[in-house]
Amino acid sequence: LRVAVLYGGRSPEHEVSLRSAANVLAALDPAKYEAVPVFVGRDGRWMLAETATGNPGTPASGAELCLLPGGRGRCVALSAGGEARPLPDLDVVFPVLHGLPGEDGAVQGLCEVAMVPLAGCGILGSATALDKDVAKRLLREAGIPVARSVTVEAGSPPHFSELEAALGLPIFVKPARQGSSVGVRKVNASQEYAGALAEGFRYDRKLLAEEFVAGREIELAVLEDADGSLFVSRPGEIVPAESHGFYSYEAKYLDEDGALLNVPADLPDDVEARLKDLAARAFRALGCDGMARVDFFVTADMQMLVNELNTIPGFTDISMYSKVMAASGVPYAEVIDRLIVHGMK
Ligand code: DAL
Ligand code: MG
Repeated sequence: LRVAVLYGGRSPEHEVSLRSAANVLAALDPAKYEAVPVFVGRDGRWMLAETATGNPGTPASGAELCLLPGGRGRCVALSAGGEARPLPDLDVVFPVLHGLPGEDGAVQGLCEVAMVPLAGCGILGSATALDKDVAKRLLREAGIPVARSVTVEAGSPPHFSELEAALGLPIFVKPARQGSSVGVRKVNASQEYAGALAEGFRYDRKLLAEEFVAGREIELAVLEDADGSLFVSRPGEIVPAESHGFYSYEAKYLDEDGALLNVPADLPDDVEARLKDLAARAFRALGCDGMARVDFFVTADMQMLVNELNTIPGFTDISMYSKVMAASGVPYAEVIDRLIVHGMK
């Protein structure tokens, strides 16, 4: 099977994607798959990359990849001089793109138009999960507990006192459509509010102001199989280092000691069972298929709030998705196999 692995991308999570994709490419068994690494530049162009393993990075061949509408995986390579040369058909596209566009349904729609199978979550679930505002509305409607929040549109941000009255302090201000905590600020007092709005609006015209939830950060992996059944992993816990205050971009990726992952999380059996049930319900509520990582806050009195779903979660072999799946008996390479089988159904 020829599997095009898309990585890089236009989002601020470009670097995170490079790491995720390097692991996916290394885990694709060459006896079963022919990997076609496709580097999506910060300019959005799809370039064929040379190596199937190791560090993906700047493409070596310089040929641009064009996927043909209705082509069932037909594609051509376009040289720098503009000459088109046919490539062998792709059997499946495996996007390992975090954030916009890629995790939001855009690339998934492109695959639909090209009529080529896609590994992972489809158009609807990708779009609803990536928009934290839309996702929370759907989760609330499904009766799934979420943190209190106020949607903040550019041009009409509420007065700080309104937010404080509705949400208490501190408040988290985050872009609605952004991952890896990019653009997120913790606001402890009114004088920090304007700065947090300015930071958030650098990334999106819609923000969420959310209440602070004093709780543990617990994450579960959901994997849908080709028959439509859901496999939900055991929970894992993120323990951010005290120095970071919250699980920020720095704590996630820049500081090696920024956070610990405790897998499986130390939780009572009944709490684990309820988390699994909520994770599956949240996945369905957003219209997800394929896969997602469901992130929770669990308070000291064992209230469970869904924070968000990530349909292309950090995907290295030591990322939470992989670790909780491995702790549940599904090794990394098998996760990839199952996603491909699901995509080709
Ligand atoms: N958005 C990052 C990659 C994650 O959720 O893991
Ligand atoms: Mg995220």
